[in-house]
Amino acid sequence: MNIDLESPASFARGHPHAQYDWLRENAPVYWHDEKDGPGFWVLSRYDDVQATGRNHQAFSSCPTIMMQDPAPGTDMLMGDYQMMLMMDPPKHTAFRTLVRGEFAKEPAGRMGPRIRQLATQIVDAVIDQGACDFVSDIAGEMPSFVIAEMMGLPLDDGRELYKLTEIFHTAPEALAEGEADAALGKMFGYAADVIKAKRANPADDLASKLLAAEVEGRKLDDVEFQLFFMLLVDAGGDTTRNLVASGMLALMEHPDQLAWLKADVEGRMASAREELLRWCSPVIYMRRTAKEDTEISGQAIKAGDKVIMYYGSANRDKDHFDNADRLDLARSPNDHLAFGSGGHVCLGQHIARIEIDAMLREVLTRMENIQCTEAPFWLESNFISGPKTMPVSFTSAA
Ligand code: HEM
Repeated sequence: MNIDLESPASFARGHPHAQYDWLRENAPVYWHDEKDGPGFWVLSRYDDVQATGRNHQAFSSCPTIMMQDPAPGTDMLMGDYQMMLMMDPPKHTAFRTLVRGEFAKEPAGRMGPRIRQLATQIVDAVIDQGACDFVSDIAGEMPSFVIAEMMGLPLDDGRELYKLTEIFHTAPEALAEGEADAALGKMFGYAADVIKAKRANPADDLASKLLAAEVEGRKLDDVEFQLFFMLLVDAGGDTTRNLVASGMLALMEHPDQLAWLKADVEGRMASAREELLRWCSPVIYMRRTAKEDTEISGQAIKAGDKVIMYYGSANRDKDHFDNADRLDLARSPNDHLAFGSGGHVCLGQHIARIEIDAMLREVLTRMENIQCTEAPFWLESNFISGPKTMPVSFTSAA
């Protein structure tokens, strides 16, 4: 079996499940060579992925959770500054505590009515057209609106910021020279304007709260705020979009499952959504770096080695899920790892669930006969999985 989890081409039609199957079966902790780097360990089994995510003592999120180390001299290296996603305790705990309350289940639940209203507006905008691009016109709208609302920004700005995050997630070879740096500059510039505006006129929003909050006995400085801002805009954007779009595609490809869900959308959405998260796993991987010589399932790992957790593979592990290769919207229990595991487990998971439910409910109850009019064109990324474009036609249920 040719194993290549580095090339974006391997993900051009979704997760490379044949490679994952082979790895779980034959080399669950597999050494993968790297084009311009030292190589990395691939973790493909559920237990190893879950345990490594939980073990911050041995496996660090620093210097990055991406496969490649940031090149010296690039904008991604910010001296002592890091995004929360790339911190370890105790600093990580201090930063996460700043925003944990806003993202907890109860406050997230209070956003439900507004999120449902946004879902209605999004479908209103396309319903009479009979056709649209499901990714940009439907799935991508919601997460950019929600984070803009939370931050206290105009919805249209959310849409623009979201376009920038798409550029960060595209493989460098698929971008024009300097495109990624320009996008990063725009994101930071926008966050700098937010700092000015919210310091002058604080409001009851997440951006103002972050600027007022104290971490380690002091307020965030501008760069810390900019990095936090970028993380929040970025982390909730195309992850949720890709779940809604690839989830809808999975439903179209499994008409029996679609019919089952449509028979009781309200009652069946919760289990259906968890199964779509397992099935689609929008985040392909997160990386850790071994802090010390250690081992994973008997394989020696040296201090400094990169260890990469493949969520899409863990979520199809036959040793953990019955009929792992079957989409079963009624699956229960369903302790998938699409949101990760351990201290960095997805902060936005409660909000993501509300967005997904609202969007799918709206689509499934108002759009009939939905089908692809062209083959979906997949995102060129070995990090985030989902269609980039998915032209569909439909009729209005009304
Ligand atoms: C289907 C949608 C989503 C998926 C699959 C997803 C997946 C993930 C995963 C796998 C991690 C773990 C990172 C690690 O262990 O290193 C993570 C972290 C995170 N997610 Fe999500 N996410 C989604 C939606 C969201 C949303 C909607 C938000 C915000 C509104 C969000 C905000 C975050 C943040 C801030 C972190 C970093 C947490 C930390 O470092 O402590 N995510 N997400």
